[in-house]
Amino acid sequence: MRIDVVTIFPDYLAPLELSLAGKARDKGLLDVRVHDLRQWATDRHHTVDDTPYGGGAGMVMKPEPWGAAFDELIPTGSTDEGTPPTVVVTTPSGVPFTQALARELAGRERLVFACGRYEGIDQRVLDDTRGRAEVLEVSIGDYVLNGGEVAALAITEAVVRLLPGFMGNPESLTEESHTLSDSGSSLLEYPVFTKPASWRGHDVPPVLLSGDHGAISAWRREQAVRRTAERRPDLVHPAVLLDDVEVRLVRPSDAGELFTLQRACWVQEQQDNPGVVIPALTESLGDVVAWAAQATVLVARSAGRLVGAVRASPRGDAWDIGRLMVAPDLQGRGLGRMLLERIEAAAPPEATSYELFTGAGSLRNQKMYKKAGYRLAGSPEPGVVRLTKARITG
Ligand code: ADE
Repeated sequence: MRIDVVTIFPDYLAPLELSLAGKARDKGLLDVRVHDLRQWATDRHHTVDDTPYGGGAGMVMKPEPWGAAFDELIPTGSTDEGTPPTVVVTTPSGVPFTQALARELAGRERLVFACGRYEGIDQRVLDDTRGRAEVLEVSIGDYVLNGGEVAALAITEAVVRLLPGFMGNPESLTEESHTLSDSGSSLLEYPVFTKPASWRGHDVPPVLLSGDHGAISAWRREQAVRRTAERRPDLVHPAVLLDDVEVRLVRPSDAGELFTLQRACWVQEQQDNPGVVIPALTESLGDVVAWAAQATVLVARSAGRLVGAVRASPRGDAWDIGRLMVAPDLQGRGLGRMLLERIEAAAPPEATSYELFTGAGSLRNQKMYKKAGYRLAGSPEPGVVRLTKARITG
């Protein structure tokens, strides 16, 4: 991989000479070149910034020096020779830098970092460069640094260690934080310990000394999930927390919460399907108690809270699924899909298909059902669509 860094503070990039990038260079995996943007500024003072059009505080980086830098580093036609270079513009208004993006960038042949300063780089530079390179505006976090140099260093370090052949033991890469697990979740790493077994009165968790590899890996996973849920709940897919989500048949004592959850969930449906009469919003607690006693109803509870439900009953040869609901704050994380799978599995042996109904305007629901194998099968009344899926048995 070749990395070019363009900056007005080349000395800031001195750490690239040190261990990590240096090691990659020694192994012949990396060629790093740092360039002073001012060499492409043509006036006597090597000016690189100017006042913003439209007014406002701060200065904007002028287009000409950047244009000249990219003309030299990424000449027109560089896209013709295989993969086009990727220009990474480090800016707090970029897309978040993640481990997934690091993995993607590690697959590129050439990265060119553009380290912005002041209020940023004249937008036309990026638009002009897009013709001959992939241009990504990337942020390393929701805070503002004085310039993009530290971000370029951070991104380089995260990328270079993923270069094939860089790590002595590539397994250590698959075990670390932010690596996607089988369930599609990204978990933070579990706590780690080394010798001595007891230090200042703090003991290493006994399971780690047990020699029982199954127990150790279960403990580590549990710790990783707990840590992630505590520190980064945004990263945890509820599938990971399935141990904590209890799915069971409804009980009479669930009816009150079921009634409330249903109202909360169908308000969005009403907004997506104006004018459609939605029984889930109008029926009484008594109605809920009645259908909960007749249909097959599953409820999902997490930490004592009712977070989802679904019901089904036979209709001819079909298993008629309805009232699939997930608490609004937990939607989009796989809980609905899991409930759908569980209610499908509860179909009686004679059912040959599954069917369900949703609003014609409920596009998010329809997308989820289609992903689960359902296909549109007509519209029984205006504003409502029917979806079906053949049951595969055996
Ligand atoms: N430049 C200034 N702040 C930055 C940030 N958070 N990420 C990337 N580049 C930056």
